[in-house]
Amino acid sequence: MRIAVIGAGAAGLAAIRRSCCSAEVVCYEKSDKVGGTWVYVPETGNDAYGLPIHSSMYESLRTNLPKEVMGYPDYLIPENRKSYIHHDEILAFLNDYCTHFQLRDKIKFLHNVELVEPIGAEEKGTGSNWKLRVRDLRKSTVTEEFFDAVMVCNGHYFKPSLPRLKGHETFKGQQMHSHDYRRPEPFADKRVVVIGAGPSGMDLALEISKKAKRVILSHHLKETILTKFPNNVVQKKDVVELKDNSAVFQDGTSEEADIIFYCTGYEYSFPFLSESCEIKVNDNMITPLWKHVIAIENPTLVFIGIPFYVCAFSMFDLQVRFVLRYLNKEKELPTRDSMLLDESQEKNSRFNIRGFTKRQFHMMGPLQAEYYDDLADTANIERLLPVLSKLHNESSDRFLDDLVHYRDDRYKIIDNENYQQLND
Ligand SMILES: Cc1cc2nc3c(=O)[nH]c(=O)nc-3n(C[C@H](O)[C@H](O)[C@H](O)COP(=O)(O)OP(=O)(O)OC[C@H]3O[C@@H](n4cnc5c(N)ncnc54)[C@H](O)[C@@H]3O)c2cc1C
Ligand SMILES: *[C@@H]1O[C@H](CO)[C@@H](O)[C@H](O)[C@H]1NC(C)=O
Repeated sequence: MRIAVIGAGAAGLAAIRRSCCSAEVVCYEKSDKVGGTWVYVPETGNDAYGLPIHSSMYESLRTNLPKEVMGYPDYLIPENRKSYIHHDEILAFLNDYCTHFQLRDKIKFLHNVELVEPIGAEEKGTGSNWKLRVRDLRKSTVTEEFFDAVMVCNGHYFKPSLPRLKGHETFKGQQMHSHDYRRPEPFADKRVVVIGAGPSGMDLALEISKKAKRVILSHHLKETILTKFPNNVVQKKDVVELKDNSAVFQDGTSEEADIIFYCTGYEYSFPFLSESCEIKVNDNMITPLWKHVIAIENPTLVFIGIPFYVCAFSMFDLQVRFVLRYLNKEKELPTRDSMLLDESQEKNSRFNIRGFTKRQFHMMGPLQAEYYDDLADTANIERLLPVLSKLHNESSDRFLDDLVHYRDDRYKIIDNENYQQLND
């Protein structure tokens, strides 16, 4: 079996590591490094080959989860005085993982996958299921490559999601998305409207408040955020309109603004999938997928890392082990109808019972433990440890309650079920 892995971020590395014992694996990575999002790139815009810069990493970033939940199941992040560590330590960890499992020679760097297409019946003679069009960026040549299975590991924090606010074309100040944020200096003495209170909006509102004149954090969270922000930060409801030099909010008030800073998240994007892959992305809901992983219409096409608010690297490893059971024919895939039924039950449970929106279709958070166990039990593979989801939940609660200090917390995992908070 020949498997193509698209992307050498944390997901792609797990895909190579788990697949390469039972298959021939080729990983295509468009940049010249492993690590994806964790590779800090000071520049914004396009890279030397004219491709959009992938990473959204900013200079000061420390993890928003304790490192104790960020490792792989069989390769942990090494001991260190802190739980919340700087991004360059995660990148070093991913490079160590790569070295430890000897993954680097499976990766074709500076190779961009431009097209993934299922092979039609008339071309079946090749014996493969998939045709990829791959550009060697250095040579600027394009080749066709054939595979039995494709693991899509291209990440989902690179294509900004931008609301089309009334007046956004005529606003006279600057508008930028958090994807292009690197350092706080350009915000010095500015009046900034930060839109969105997800992990980036909260962190960046706090970071730029140290330089900016005034920060207006605009969001529609139901709960008021307990965090005590500095005095130059105020919270407002949603922006309804931009005027020449100001923003108007839902409560009718308005604020003068130099910069509108969109921390409005990202769109899932698979620009290389041909129409015939039959994958739809609608308002950040990807369908039809079985268990958020396997393309139901073409089950040798799989997506690693779609769910969010998860213990990411461990989940990637679990998802790869899950799909390999089917690709290796150690387990038989359910029928198309039964996978579609599973997906429609997932929709029903999320939309009708929990009241989630489409954009929350792949959100895990409090549902993650159940999801991990379902994957493991369905494929008869080893589960993730319950302590991971528990500590993830504790950290997420702490983030909401005390944004300013939660990264000082330190944890130690003591057994499969329990963690301990360390003092000083
Ligand atoms: C600012 C920020 C902070 C974060 N902080 C945390 C945190 O604290 N803790 C945490 O657990 N998670 C965090 N995350 C989530 C993070 O995205 C995941 O932890 C994880 O790194 C995602 O890995 P990935 O492999 O799925 O995607 P990525 O890391 O995005 O890697 C995808 C790779 O695919 C390559 N690629 C894409 N398209 C192609 C193509 N067509 N051809 C070839 N190669 C391609 C890219 O170059 C890239 O190397 C953060 C994300 C962001 C943006
Ligand atoms: C933590 O878990 C509790 C109980 O399941 C849940 O109600 C809460 O929403 C979780 N917190 C977060 C931030 O996910």
